[in-house]
Amino acid sequence: MPHEPGKVRLVGAGPGAADLLTVRALRAIEDAQALLYDALIADEVIALAPAACLKIQTGKRAGRPSLEQATINRLMLRLARRGLNVVRLKGGDPSIFGRVGEEAAFLHVHGIDTEVVPGVTAASAAAAQFGFPLTHRGEARRLLIATATTKAGALIDAGWAQAADAQTTVALYMGRDRLEAALAQLMAHGRSAATPALAVENAGRREARVLAGTVGDLGEVVTTAGLDGPVVLIVGEVTAQAAAAVAAPPILKAQA
Ligand SMILES: C[S@@+](CC[C@H](N)C(=O)[O-])C[C@H]1O[C@@H](n2cnc3c(N)ncnc32)[C@H](O)[C@@H]1O
Repeated sequence: MPHEPGKVRLVGAGPGAADLLTVRALRAIEDAQALLYDALIADEVIALAPAACLKIQTGKRAGRPSLEQATINRLMLRLARRGLNVVRLKGGDPSIFGRVGEEAAFLHVHGIDTEVVPGVTAASAAAAQFGFPLTHRGEARRLLIATATTKAGALIDAGWAQAADAQTTVALYMGRDRLEAALAQLMAHGRSAATPALAVENAGRREARVLAGTVGDLGEVVTTAGLDGPVVLIVGEVTAQAAAAVAAPPILKAQA
């Protein structure tokens, strides 16, 4: 007899630490019969799935290449059609640079029941961990979440004109290797070189690091430090509050 198709849950795993999962995400992982996970998912989160759960890594990790999006879509469909409870686990929040729209649309077209479970995005994790808000009354009225780089690494328009506004906090994702160029674009569009800024690597994890500086000097600091984990750049007056709140881990100052 053919199976009733299973459900696919598109789940945000948060920034890495298992205790930053939502309760709903945790339950979905614990109930999973098939788990497809991205490169940035921490081992401690994958370990929460049952031993019998089929675990498939979809992102570039340990020398293995990423699966094509079309392959991931077909895999999710095939597993759901086998009647399995499928969890597609993504870093942070699946609706922020997580392709959740494409995957949900694909599953919907094929008649698969789908649920999105939100997660803590990198910028929120960075703000909480290093003691600054993303918006602040009278200082930061807007939050711009953007990416400045394409998959191939080229710099694109991240909305530089809006990002130049002094009351906007900018959270730039996927820009680690082009941070100097991105900061130069911000200045070229009028954001003051004196605006405080942070580059946060591995936000929300024990091994998190933060580099502090200004729009004018942070690029060089980051390049010199040679960060190799995931990095979110946060630009805006609010980031000045980080220095006051952080005791440990250390903030590496631009002018130290
Ligand atoms: C494909 S995007 C996915 C973003 C994710 N959906 C989120 O909401 O955080 C990957 C980028 O997110 C950022 N990122 C993800 N996890 C991070 C972390 N723990 N610390 C700092 N940045 C992170 C980095 O800019 C990374 O290049």
